[in-house]
Amino acid sequence: MCGIVGYVGPGSSVDVLLGGLKRLEYRGYDSAGVAVIDDAGRLETRKRAGKLNVLAEDLAASALHDGHTGIGHTRWATHGGPTDENAHPHLGDDGKLALIHNGIIENFSELKQEVLDAGGVFTSETDTEVAALLVGAAFRECGDLTEALRRVVARLEGAFTLLVLHQDVPGVVVGARRNSPLVIGLGDGENFLGSDVAAFVEHTRYALEIGQDQIVTIRPDSVEVIDFAGVPVTPNAFEVAWDASAAEKGGWPSFMKKEISEEPEAVAKTLLGRSHDGAVTLPELDSLHDVLGEINRVVVIACGTAAYAGMLGKYAIEAWARIPVDVELSHEFRYRDPVLDGRTLVVSVSQSGETMDTLMAVKYAAQHGARTLSICNTQGSTIPRESDAVLYTHAGPEVAVASTKAFVAQVTALYLLGLHLAQRRGTLDGAHVAAQLTELQNLPDKLDQVVESASSRIAELAHWMSDTQSVLFLGRHVGYPVALEGALKLKELAYIHAEGFAAGELKHGPIALIEPGQIVFVIVPSPRDPSSLHPKVVSNIQEIRARGARVIAIAEIGDVAVVPFADEVIRIPFAAPLFEPLLAVVPLHIFGMELAMAKGLDVDQPRNLAKSVTVE
Ligand code: F6R
Repeated sequence: MCGIVGYVGPGSSVDVLLGGLKRLEYRGYDSAGVAVIDDAGRLETRKRAGKLNVLAEDLAASALHDGHTGIGHTRWATHGGPTDENAHPHLGDDGKLALIHNGIIENFSELKQEVLDAGGVFTSETDTEVAALLVGAAFRECGDLTEALRRVVARLEGAFTLLVLHQDVPGVVVGARRNSPLVIGLGDGENFLGSDVAAFVEHTRYALEIGQDQIVTIRPDSVEVIDFAGVPVTPNAFEVAWDASAAEKGGWPSFMKKEISEEPEAVAKTLLGRSHDGAVTLPELDSLHDVLGEINRVVVIACGTAAYAGMLGKYAIEAWARIPVDVELSHEFRYRDPVLDGRTLVVSVSQSGETMDTLMAVKYAAQHGARTLSICNTQGSTIPRESDAVLYTHAGPEVAVASTKAFVAQVTALYLLGLHLAQRRGTLDGAHVAAQLTELQNLPDKLDQVVESASSRIAELAHWMSDTQSVLFLGRHVGYPVALEGALKLKELAYIHAEGFAAGELKHGPIALIEPGQIVFVIVPSPRDPSSLHPKVVSNIQEIRARGARVIAIAEIGDVAVVPFADEVIRIPFAAPLFEPLLAVVPLHIFGMELAMAKGLDVDQPRNLAKSVTVE
């Protein structure tokens, strides 16, 4: 959702803030703004509706008086449309304090009424402005910015990260968080705050986590953290595992294209150091050692693409560890009174580690006695901190809003978890574990082949289909989550109606959608698959072909049986059945991207979406 940056130090605030916001723009991008205390001790702000470059151009045309204390914000609108007035920062009533916010203040109506009754004036439709006016008033009473923010956050309900600065206290930025992200960057004579480490990784890789309901005060040479009761807290330190260049386009036309090309590496890095002598080694799970021997059920919770990764995890964990696995959308899970106890392992899957629906579901699971494991791609994020253990994916920073390389890394981590559980519970012998590991380790090379071989043909197909109104995706068994993922990518990137179906479900309704010219992607299992799904899927292809569909098959190299029935065959190398989806998904990622490009759309920042959905 919104991106937040704070800075105190000798550098130019505007440069640091714009650089940080650029790296955070993927979080939200319908307006942006900055506030700085200039060298004369005056508060200066500038904010504009539109993407960050609208603000950057405005600042280039008429510069702010720069200074060394500043806050910056990119917005994804919740309360109030994306206008200049609703953009952050918002000011206190005397114009001396500026505040930015990520999240939703749920009790803002009653607080607003209170401020209005006291003669306050609002200039925006946001829930944020009430916090700015309240902190401004509290500062006038107590003269201490940290205390002023502490008094106000104690009254706020909902989820929020707030940053404030005040012209009477230059060199100070204060932040507070509840259920919304904020991390500290530690520099040399300068300090930073950010929604995530991307905000400051260009300047420092040393970071501190801020826990729930905590307040941080940064000055150029100090960082102090207290909880909402005012008690000092020692934050956890960590070092960011990647450098700034990993979050740059590096010559690629888009982050999405770069990140698809990094899918092989995302799998390789997630596997790195996690096996020894044909066995899986996950010391991260040591704290759950006893629990993993006792659990009788796994529930995977996630949203969107991460939930499709979870569906693939179910196939693998059940096959290898013989434990029942349910996969649920986080936002459904916690509102339906699920059955949980100490023998349930709840595995959350989240690239950002900040998805509010998933965070709340993890907290709910823990409160109801389940043990929790987070599969996450973002160090210092909230969900791992709220979980009993974390297995990080190592996909590197994912900047394009639609998830690609994080998906294959999530599947890889879930498969490692499946093998770890199988070892722990003795459901697979050493030779079988070693064989599955080899399959996993062979994937990066095969993925390279797919990226290499499929890209140009898919680009041609996408250009040929740029006027298409609807695309269907069919898959069976592990091909089904791939079909769902292909459809989601097309919806969000190319704004085309797309649906994914289990191929076996076709005759139970969806076949009515097939009319002459309908484009259908079919994920075809290997003809070597012992479960004999291949002929069934080939029959499905014949059924839709007979009704005029144009079929694009994703099929194994050498599978000749599909050729007579498909209009186009995109080839993938052979992999054992559970591993095929990691290969089959790549052409669909490329297709979504290419079709969006053919339509002239922004593939990195699709409309209405935000990378990290930090409101429910
Ligand atoms: C789709 C996509 C989203 C995310 C979902 C969960 O391309 O990116 O569906 O997968 O919002 O996000 P995380 O993994 O950050 O919890």
